[in-house]
Amino acid sequence: MSNDATLHPDRNLAMELVRATEAAAIRAVPFIGKGDKNSADGAAVDAMRAFLGTVNFEGLIVIGEGEKDNAPMLFNGELVGNGNGPKCDIAVDPIDGTSLTAAGRQNAVSVIAASDRGSMLDASAVFYMDKLVVGPEGRDVVDIRKPIAENIRALAKAKGKGVDEIVVAVLDRPRHEGLIAEIRAAGAGTRLLLDGDVAGGIHAARYGSRIDMCVGIGGSPEGIVTTCAVKGLGGIVQGILKPRDEQERERGLAAGLKFDYVYEVNEMVSSDNTFFVATGVTDGGLLEGVRRKGPVIFTHSMVIRGKTGTIRHVNAEYQADRWL
Ligand code: FBP
Repeated sequence: MSNDATLHPDRNLAMELVRATEAAAIRAVPFIGKGDKNSADGAAVDAMRAFLGTVNFEGLIVIGEGEKDNAPMLFNGELVGNGNGPKCDIAVDPIDGTSLTAAGRQNAVSVIAASDRGSMLDASAVFYMDKLVVGPEGRDVVDIRKPIAENIRALAKAKGKGVDEIVVAVLDRPRHEGLIAEIRAAGAGTRLLLDGDVAGGIHAARYGSRIDMCVGIGGSPEGIVTTCAVKGLGGIVQGILKPRDEQERERGLAAGLKFDYVYEVNEMVSSDNTFFVATGVTDGGLLEGVRRKGPVIFTHSMVIRGKTGTIRHVNAEYQADRWL
């Protein structure tokens, strides 16, 4: 029977999805700081798939970890859930920050984003996207087409801050050397991210955060995931796809993607009925990492609902002997 409840993900779904990111984070525990990022990722993927299979929904993975042949990844086009309940699009990143996890560094998170079926842009054919993320004060103020110095000055004015108080998050990569120099020359400070621009983007969009803007080239899946969160936070994400070579450009064109084109929030995720769910894998500014204390495993997660903008923090305590 087709009724509203089967067509749209509802708020109960978000709390169910938290179980899957919690499970992914917990299963990654034995691999934190052990130098083996593939095993950490594999454990998180398996846990996420197993938990998603118990949830009352039919999730279509629009953005997963790869193609079908790369099993045991959660592959693009895979259906997850028990098939009952709402149909939706899903983007997953069982660990955003696999290298951070393997090194025992901060800011790794496990993430799922969901939206109404058919509303998520499948940008998976192109690995990289140039992004700009700001919170509500930056709406209609900044634009990825403008020089970064201009955006910094405009955002500072809109926020009633000095330019020298503006902090811009950027992935610390050689490709960003020029961008980083421009940010500093404009008088703003940088927050260089080793990895994990989902957390960087959410920081930038959150009210009262120390990060004002997140810019630069990162994963395009991460751009879509961030957009689901930013729908709730009220800020903006703009994205320009950056194919690495001609082959990727061809694949992107075949998938209907546009180049030299700025994707705005509603083109990346057209529905406002979004959920963003994340659990901390390692400690970070956004979330505490999963940790074991004696017989108990503690997890810290956040749930952002696009429609209402509500942010919920979920602390869970699991019995370690049932898990590890
Ligand atoms: P994974 O941990 O999922 O590999 O992603 C980490 C990450 O830093 C993302 O947050 C970011 O979008 C992307 O990698 C950047 O890619 P690259 O490391 O190639 O610059």
